[in-house]
Amino acid sequence: MRTILVGGQYGDEGKGKISSHIALTDTPEIVARGGVGPNAGHKVLYNGNWYSLRMLPSGFVNASSKVMIGAGVSVDPEVFLKEVEMTGTEGRVFVDRRCTEITAKHKEDDAKSSLSGKIGTTKTGCGPAVTSRARRDATFIGDSPKMQKYIIDVAREVHKAKSVFVEGSQGFMLSVLYGTYPFVTSKDVSASSLAADVGLGPTSIDHVIMTIKSYTTRVGNGPFPGEIGVEEAVKLNFQEYGTVTGRPRRTSPELHWEDLKFAAEVNGATQIAVTKMDIRFPGNEGKKKYSDLTTEARRFLDQVEARLEVPVTLIGTGPDSAHIVDRRDELL
Ligand code: IMP
Ligand code: MG
Repeated sequence: MRTILVGGQYGDEGKGKISSHIALTDTPEIVARGGVGPNAGHKVLYNGNWYSLRMLPSGFVNASSKVMIGAGVSVDPEVFLKEVEMTGTEGRVFVDRRCTEITAKHKEDDAKSSLSGKIGTTKTGCGPAVTSRARRDATFIGDSPKMQKYIIDVAREVHKAKSVFVEGSQGFMLSVLYGTYPFVTSKDVSASSLAADVGLGPTSIDHVIMTIKSYTTRVGNGPFPGEIGVEEAVKLNFQEYGTVTGRPRRTSPELHWEDLKFAAEVNGATQIAVTKMDIRFPGNEGKKKYSDLTTEARRFLDQVEARLEVPVTLIGTGPDSAHIVDRRDELL
């Protein structure tokens, strides 16, 4: 079974939580990270501990899975090594030798670039690293002495494995191809690119799970329909802060249906995960059974299915990876 998890909005849809749940229930042989690089931040609450990750996939929480970073991801060795230590994954964590290495110069350039003000980049060096790669003067992570013990051919490994779970980063509206250009990240982040990031071909993918949050947030600049102010967002309990940059996230209380429909199409979504249902619909905190959800919550989920024409299989009802309704067995 090969499954890809993507974000359907502007990142921060709660992919980390969905990913950790899937890793713990399905025990994939490999959990692999695709996407851009350490500009992404996922927070995972597992066994009472919060983990903030930028390089490793949230699926690390299953100690039986191998943890890998695919060739398409730009890797910052400093961030990577810190996370290996924090998560205790040494011995089962690997990086494709072809990953672009993020250098100090890339980070400097990102901070100095006029884009950092215009777009509000994360200043993590990702954009300049991708630029180097396109210019053909990037260095590979496989050539970094301190990374030697982690190097593997991820593309070959995912072909040998019986089950692979690929975790994407960012969200569809931040795709350099399909998002709100130029207010986007430096790569396409749709399912096809994520497959390529780890070395899988499109015909080998069984499922694409598109994650959406029950309301919409965005960090950084760019168009954002239905935006409300911080005060109003706080009142609705929707106000969030960026994991990587700490910036307050912008909030739009509604779902942007046309964008979501398009995102489901381009990603080839076969399942939808909806997160933070407990925030939008109080009374659903920690629920694990569909029949225990409030009528209002169920009506909302019906609307998601009707508009996107894809079944909602996973429903987030709280921060812990166990706070979830999983209907995959029932619906697929
Ligand atoms: P960059 O990816 O650092 O170049 O930033 C480009 C834009 O994408 C900025 O608006 C960032 O805030 C946004 N962005 C990049 N990565 C993420 C993410 O993981 N979540 C949310 N926004 C992101
Ligand atoms: Mg994030």
